[in-house]
Amino acid sequence: MKVRDAEIRGTGRSAATSIPESQRPSGHARSVEMQTSAIDVAPRAISAKEFLLFQALIYRESGIWLSDVKIGLLTARLSKRLRMLQLKRFSEYYERVTLDLEERLTMLDVITTNETHFFREPIHFQFLEERVFTAWQAAVNARQRDRVLRVWSAGCSTGQEAYSLAMILLDHFPHHNKWSIEILATDLSRRALATAEQGVWSADKAREIPRHYLRKYTLKGVGEFQGQVKAAPSIRIVRFARLNLNDENYPAWLGKFDLIFCRNVLIYFDIESRNRVLGRLVKHLAPDGFLFVGHAETLTSACPSLRCVIPTVYVYNRTGSSERHAIGT
Ligand SMILES: C[S@@+](CC[C@H](N)C(=O)[O-])C[C@H]1O[C@@H](n2cnc3c(N)ncnc32)[C@H](O)[C@@H]1O
Repeated sequence: MKVRDAEIRGTGRSAATSIPESQRPSGHARSVEMQTSAIDVAPRAISAKEFLLFQALIYRESGIWLSDVKIGLLTARLSKRLRMLQLKRFSEYYERVTLDLEERLTMLDVITTNETHFFREPIHFQFLEERVFTAWQAAVNARQRDRVLRVWSAGCSTGQEAYSLAMILLDHFPHHNKWSIEILATDLSRRALATAEQGVWSADKAREIPRHYLRKYTLKGVGEFQGQVKAAPSIRIVRFARLNLNDENYPAWLGKFDLIFCRNVLIYFDIESRNRVLGRLVKHLAPDGFLFVGHAETLTSACPSLRCVIPTVYVYNRTGSSERHAIGT
């Protein structure tokens, strides 16, 4: 049985602030952290049959395709869980996850790769400043009607992408009377989302943030928080929610976005699930909205409404065009 997020009743509102309780990550942290005291029972090596069971289950649940060469990675990531639960065989753990939704969610936490950085792939931020913001700024100057700029970091991991977007957007569109900013950040992993919501990083990680943003949008830890950096209240406009991109239908409250960042996520999927996700993401792009993918995730054929602007950046073209794109690596 596939894990789906709790059913969402459409509110008709598009605001990220209307994320239903069931999609919010905060309460999840506790259940992920709550673990039994470990008595070290070394699990037996995973068998080929057991690997195939997990490979299929993880694919069904998340779209993530673990090819046969990933057997070592899967074993390493799941072994800790088996130890924690004092299980000896991977087949026992498989039985557990098929019966227990909570453990299945924890398994997804464990198997996802959450590497991320502030201002990752600088060319995207440069594109925003040079091409997108200038057009938006012209509209602001022309005193166009009230507008909410809506941004979605889909597969946000521990939040660095979403907070980077908050900094650059607020810097260019600071509390403008007419325009406001909404940033939604979603991920499959409850553990990553709980970290993202805290908005606290080691000073080392925060070094990726350009200096003027660091000064403007973060607070330096003192005393027991020495060596840490915290998101300032101004960039805590980011709303976090759990959303499985592999779900057939995305919740109605999601609405349309001017920018969708879905970077370094689809690379873990196979071609079929990538294209399915891509088709769903496109439905949430506003007219003339932009989709950003990771540098290894170029779109190659089959999505008529996307036009490539620069490699890895696509604009939603309402009328469709002769250029067709599907995602591939
Ligand atoms: C490598 S991180 C990329 C983070 C960020 N977008 C970036 O580029 O730095 C990939 C993220 O995708 C998330 N992910 C994987 N499968 C997903 C799915 N089916 N639905 C939502 N998020 C998923 C993982 O949990 C992980 O946090």
